[in-house]
Amino acid sequence: MTEKIPTIQIIDAKNYVGKTVKIGAWLRQKRGSGKIAFLQLRDGTAFFQGVVAKADVSEAVFEKAKSLKQETSLYVIGEIHEDSRSSFGYEMAVSDLEVIGESHDYPITPKEHGTDFLFDERHLYLRHLKPFATLKIRNTLIAASYEFMNQEGFTKLDAPFLTGSAAEGTTELFETDYFGESAFLAQTGQLYAEAGAMAFGKVFTFGPAFRAEKSKTRRHLTEFWMIEPEMAFMHQEESLVFQERYIAFLISKVLERNEQELDILERDKDVLRSYTQLPYPRVSYDDAIKLLQDNGFDVEWGVDFGSPEETFLANHFAKPVFIINYPKAIKAFYMKKHPTRDDVVISADLLAPEGYGEIIGGSEREDDYDTLKARIEEQGLDMSEYEWYLDLRRYGSVPHSGFGLGLERMVTFVTGEEHIREAIPFPRMTNRLRP
Ligand code: 4AD
Repeated sequence: MTEKIPTIQIIDAKNYVGKTVKIGAWLRQKRGSGKIAFLQLRDGTAFFQGVVAKADVSEAVFEKAKSLKQETSLYVIGEIHEDSRSSFGYEMAVSDLEVIGESHDYPITPKEHGTDFLFDERHLYLRHLKPFATLKIRNTLIAASYEFMNQEGFTKLDAPFLTGSAAEGTTELFETDYFGESAFLAQTGQLYAEAGAMAFGKVFTFGPAFRAEKSKTRRHLTEFWMIEPEMAFMHQEESLVFQERYIAFLISKVLERNEQELDILERDKDVLRSYTQLPYPRVSYDDAIKLLQDNGFDVEWGVDFGSPEETFLANHFAKPVFIINYPKAIKAFYMKKHPTRDDVVISADLLAPEGYGEIIGGSEREDDYDTLKARIEEQGLDMSEYEWYLDLRRYGSVPHSGFGLGLERMVTFVTGEEHIREAIPFPRMTNRLRP
């Protein structure tokens, strides 16, 4: 009786050395001579090489191998060998192959292409090395976030994406018609997460956030994903400890699970590992302003930091750094007022080093009914839209804190990607709505 050939995935090749296996794959690239064809293959789990030697296969198989075009899908059958020359470490000596789907004139060739072209072809570009590695790491960050939140006793609460009011300022809203009235795409799930925290204690939301930001920077998307934990009976100091533990957990999971991807992206693992060392420094906004001024920055108390300031501050400490207690005037209405100062709120932004910018924004929430109501009025918001939110202070208000982690900012930080568009499968920016 002949043994059945197992169908495996490339990532498992190490378990089949010396065995004949079958793999469904796509051809990335091909090179060779009259006697040998090297097939660069990928299957969504990893990348490796299939070697077709004329001397070892039938004439028909060799001719078929030579005629394969970029991105043809195929089954390859052959024996797995160790391959010390490749970083993957294994290859296949192909004995047979079967074409499944042909591919002609694939537009993304091995030559250099411009970024615009690659993102016009994003539906195909996803198949390539860098996007593959980046988005695999994104996947780890999502999975590890659920793991962490579950192990910390959080309940996932799904916030709506269609809302009737603003939470993060009224200038960056995407408005849409909702059966004759105005609706807005959610900028944050936070206000709903606060309602959830009063019901479940510790909750987190995870969903897209929409901001009609005109800013064209390498850190801004108009649609990005945010993880927003919200904790009842928790003051800000405890929240900061939770935040840094969460970030260190995420980084350690990527180091554990994505070695292949970090190598593809040439991300320095020792540098990443250094960011798992806690605690992260806490610097008051006041001190941050002084530090910037002492280092030649033209900033005055009251301004929001731009990218050069954020980069300087985090690089100064060579770690993610919390900037705490920002001026009230530049922060959202729901942030709790400082107990002894009128001009600042109990907030913290976590700035990543190496120029990756703000990855977390958070605060303790104003839990006093009258103060919160006054803040809503002060900001000229429509009170009737916030009555339900004020109910959370009317009926058993408690101290509570929360924060939002920008997933794509975190992805760029961990992967070392230059631009945030790389960190999401189909980026939405001021100049990009397709594909
Ligand atoms: O600081 P932000 O605006 O905070 C909130 O939305 C709060 N409601 C969060 C909370 O307390 N529950 O945004 C949080 C994070 C930022 O630190 C940043 O990482 C990311 O979201 N972010 C963006 N990412 C990509 N593109 C944009 N336009 C972003 N705006 C914010």
